[in-house]
Amino acid sequence: MAFILAAAASAIGLGNLWRFPYLAAQYGGGIFIVIYLALVMTLGFTLMTTEIAIGRSTLQSQLTAYSRLHKSFGFLGLIGTLVPLLIVSYYCVIGGWVVKYLVAYAEMVFGNANLMGEAAADSAAFFSGFISAPFAPFAYSLIFILACAGIIVLGVKNGIEKSNTIMMPALFILAIVISVYVICLPGAKEGLAYYLIPNTDSLRAADGSFSIALLAKTILGAMGQMFYSLSLAMGIMITYGSYMRKTDCIELSVRRIEIFDTLISVIAGLMIIPGVYIFAAKSGLPIKEAMNAGPGLMFITLPKVFASIGSAGPIIGLAFFALVTFAAATSAISLYEACVASLCDHIRIDRKAATFFVGSLIAFLATFSALGYGAWGHITLFGWQFLDFFDFVTNSVIMPILAALTCIFVGWILKPKAIIDECEECGHTFKSRRLYTVMVKWIAPLLVVAILISEVIRALFPSLWSI
Ligand code: PHE
Repeated sequence: MAFILAAAASAIGLGNLWRFPYLAAQYGGGIFIVIYLALVMTLGFTLMTTEIAIGRSTLQSQLTAYSRLHKSFGFLGLIGTLVPLLIVSYYCVIGGWVVKYLVAYAEMVFGNANLMGEAAADSAAFFSGFISAPFAPFAYSLIFILACAGIIVLGVKNGIEKSNTIMMPALFILAIVISVYVICLPGAKEGLAYYLIPNTDSLRAADGSFSIALLAKTILGAMGQMFYSLSLAMGIMITYGSYMRKTDCIELSVRRIEIFDTLISVIAGLMIIPGVYIFAAKSGLPIKEAMNAGPGLMFITLPKVFASIGSAGPIIGLAFFALVTFAAATSAISLYEACVASLCDHIRIDRKAATFFVGSLIAFLATFSALGYGAWGHITLFGWQFLDFFDFVTNSVIMPILAALTCIFVGWILKPKAIIDECEECGHTFKSRRLYTVMVKWIAPLLVVAILISEVIRALFPSLWSI
């Protein structure tokens, strides 16, 4: 149970609460959910099983696990170790944004301040004012990093596992309470139908004909989201697998982690999408425009939704951002811990010193992302702000390369049987044997390479992508 909780705590994060709802809203609601579920049950299952089994069979974290299996593939471990450090550096900046919102809602509830109103410009101005401030975004990410460091320094058992047992149930309860509240608001029904009933409207071009390009974009969007949300191809699940007992069933654990993670994503959509629908109808904003808010859905559109529900709005907002803070913290802790564990495994350094050293490195790297929309806005990397650049490099380039090479390695060199045998160590037969073999050898590498190609096209030739 501690293992499943820890892996779910890593998986459930900003990806579920911030990224999933805006992607689902943008890509047509129900149809996105159906595609996402199919991918989680096949591709996600295959990759998570592979990573956990590699960790458990080698008893190593990602840095050395691959080289233990095959000398020439050790470099995959090195890449896998750098990725968490890069991700956590910008993840903590978004964590800082969330803390800022938590504080703002607390001020609204307890101090009766009116920081974000229903007027269209209000929350947008609040958000852009904050992220472009000279120092505040860094200060808030530092608070977030320090809170994570405080838990990590206490160790896996006393810090991480204990905090998970408090934060994870709190997260579930808050998510359920808020979504029930939103669903019961008058006018929520239509939004609910858009979100849950699959229809192909979003796959039609302007002239009403079915568009393969839109379908491909929806599948690619869902696939990228799945990797991010399940913490795959970052080496995290290898490290977690190395902590798992031989008597525990990998197949069953993977299915449970997937269920938890997907449930929270779907509930996050229930909290947000019907609310956006009601707000759009009330304020006369075209639904399509409201649904296409993208990353701003949580930071700009949602505060307007809270403002439009009247006096309960700030309280719901406070509860919502408390939930997001918990989810973001448990994921950031897993990334931070992966770096600390790698360091402690390879140099003689005590946990406190390692936490301090890695924390300082994260804070240093975070500075770039934190100030990249404001004080350092004039500095760009290949035309990107730092945060977007780190996000692109990790999720769109390194992650697909790592995932494709892992599948090729396991499917063709190590052979799927090695993973299946590891999964059967617990005494249960591996039920998804056939699915696993076909996926890992053929389908997974192809799909993952498709993500890589499409992301590179999107970055380098945006006009081609928008066809
Ligand atoms: N899965 C986390 C989320 O959904 C993010 C994450 C990615 C955490 C990779 C660890 C490793 O927010």
